[in-house]
Amino acid sequence: MAARGGFTSKLGFILAAAGSAVGLGNIWKFPFEVGAGGGAAFVLMYLLFCFVLCFPVMVTEIAIGRKTERNPVGAFKALGFSNWRFLGLMGVLAGIIILSFYNVIAGWAFGYFFEMVRGNFSIGNEFSDFTANVVKVGSYALIFMAATGFIVMKGVSGGVERAARFLMPALIVMILALVVYAITLPNAIEGVKFYLIPDWSKITQASTIGGALRQAFFSLSLGMGALITYGSYVGKKDNIISSAAYITLTDVGIAFIAGLMMFPLVAFNTGGVIDTTQSGPGLIFVTLPGVFENIGPTWGIIIGAFFFLLLSFAALTSTVSLLEVPVSYVVDEFQVRRKRAVIIMSIIIFAIGVPSLLSYGISDFFSNKFALPFGGESANTTQFLDFAFKITEVMLLLGGALITVFAAYVWKKKNLAEEITSGYSSYNTSIVKPVLNFCISFLCPLMLTFLLIVVILDNFAGINLIEMIL
Ligand code: PFF
Repeated sequence: MAARGGFTSKLGFILAAAGSAVGLGNIWKFPFEVGAGGGAAFVLMYLLFCFVLCFPVMVTEIAIGRKTERNPVGAFKALGFSNWRFLGLMGVLAGIIILSFYNVIAGWAFGYFFEMVRGNFSIGNEFSDFTANVVKVGSYALIFMAATGFIVMKGVSGGVERAARFLMPALIVMILALVVYAITLPNAIEGVKFYLIPDWSKITQASTIGGALRQAFFSLSLGMGALITYGSYVGKKDNIISSAAYITLTDVGIAFIAGLMMFPLVAFNTGGVIDTTQSGPGLIFVTLPGVFENIGPTWGIIIGAFFFLLLSFAALTSTVSLLEVPVSYVVDEFQVRRKRAVIIMSIIIFAIGVPSLLSYGISDFFSNKFALPFGGESANTTQFLDFAFKITEVMLLLGGALITVFAAYVWKKKNLAEEITSGYSSYNTSIVKPVLNFCISFLCPLMLTFLLIVVILDNFAGINLIEMIL
């Protein structure tokens, strides 16, 4: 396995994994989910889930990856539990589907960068025309897929790590600058209030709770083996617990400041009125160009172009990790050369993304009808892309629940502890161990299974299980 290479340092791994986590999920999706989920109540649930339910899953994934030095499918085989390979395969499949539509949204972001450079602020009012222009969006998405493939081809330390080293810090600086700008605008305070002061009645909504959990898993890149794959390149001397903590804090921190940037901007744009109707996949694409226009011709272009460049960068470090999962699977298990694996996978994934590309306006079937027979109506989902998104999020939750069951009862806690001890010699006597064991044995399996049912009923049948129970 020596030929697989590895991250050159602990920081390299943390940057790459945080780069996977930080993406469209934080900057594009988090704000509109907060909007739809009722503001601060959603934010609170999201934070709780990230630290209590997701963190143990992250540690487990990294430990399994490092122990086996394999892709998610090979990992279960290497541990001696070949019949659990289905879990890895579900992850590979989820990765392929996520990347197929993620790439389309990344294409929007990348396209908006060029629109901003041209000073075309009216694009905000033409969002639906823009997304329906499949030749344009398809070309941007194709460039994006090619860039992703190029980085993955270079291998982890050559491509992934080097890209993340440069992109992550640049990203944080860019967002912080925009936060400072946003909160000085008139009416910004209304946005901050919506974002930070909870409306407690929302806390019993299945859509708030389920949405927060879906968002937490997606945002942290969990439940599909992305971190098994990245974990497989981590050195034995690295501390898995502290690495997972840094990754979680970075991801949550960036989502949080992305919200702190967005809601003041929305409030500024609407004169201080914020309600949940202003959410949806168009949120940043519709709202922001108008904000940039208000800033003025020169600075508007600079800030606007910066913003969408930032978003594209963030997306790129995530698409790289998404592609790495199926590629490492094919390379490890079928002895295909990395370069060939990247080319084949990229073509397949781009092709699978075509219905998503067509689902924002150009094809009536994929835009309005596809999801309806599957309960899409109750989730207010008519577009194929949104529907595929919801399906994969369910797969991630299922993957997360099953991997904790696997670690606690099949692989066994003592083997997990042994792996964590490498790089953290005092683990066996630390308080972290009993807490983590409790989480993976009881809390995560039970809560994730329950919430998975809540999410499925909410998304595909329009039933609020939480309220039925209370
Ligand atoms: N975490 C990424 C984001 O928030 O945009 C999306 C993602 C990347 C999900 C990698 C899953 C994954 F394996």
